[in-house]
Amino acid sequence: MSNELIYPLRMPSIEEVIPEIEKYKIKFQGVKIYGADIIHPNWKTFCGVRWDYVAIFNRYNESPDSYAHSDSTNPKLTKTWGINFHINGYSLFEHYNHEDVTSFRVAPYAEHFRINAGPTKTYYMPEGVYLVNTHLPHRVVSYQDRISISLRCSLMYNVEWNDIVERFKDYIIDQPLSNKIPEYLAEGKGIEPLTTESKSVVIPFN
Ligand SMILES: [Fe+2]
Repeated sequence: MSNELIYPLRMPSIEEVIPEIEKYKIKFQGVKIYGADIIHPNWKTFCGVRWDYVAIFNRYNESPDSYAHSDSTNPKLTKTWGINFHINGYSLFEHYNHEDVTSFRVAPYAEHFRINAGPTKTYYMPEGVYLVNTHLPHRVVSYQDRISISLRCSLMYNVEWNDIVERFKDYIIDQPLSNKIPEYLAEGKGIEPLTTESKSVVIPFN
């Protein structure tokens, strides 16, 4: 089953998982990190995974990242993944092979890569919940006011992707995602790399 890098999941609404989600829907560009205490107790150990942080990504089409990135700078914890709730909009998620990118900057939470060739896989992600593999360098182009709320367990960034997929298999919707945004949404929306870079805000947590 695990030949894909993103799977749609059958999950309850974000309001059920993070009851005070309205508080976190702040307009910003980049990522904010929160402790797992914002997760409802019923979902703190979903499928036996003890989440340790929540990353909220806000990226708007007006200034998509010109670069790809990886989610971890820890060489022992590179098998990054998460469960992402996408609300308020849609996005195209692009995975790149390491041979097709050049590392140029390491930020506190990510390594950034210049993109030298096209993505190896792309996934159209309308509003919904997704199990997302972020091992490979990746870039997300977001449309409308899309927010992605990502449940993370950094202690499991060393687990094989197959095992992660197996763990959540009962929740996976067996329907492959499209590799491009629908024609009617794509009109007039270029997704070529741009030069502007989004700013990231990292809120420390324990
Ligand atoms: Fe990422």
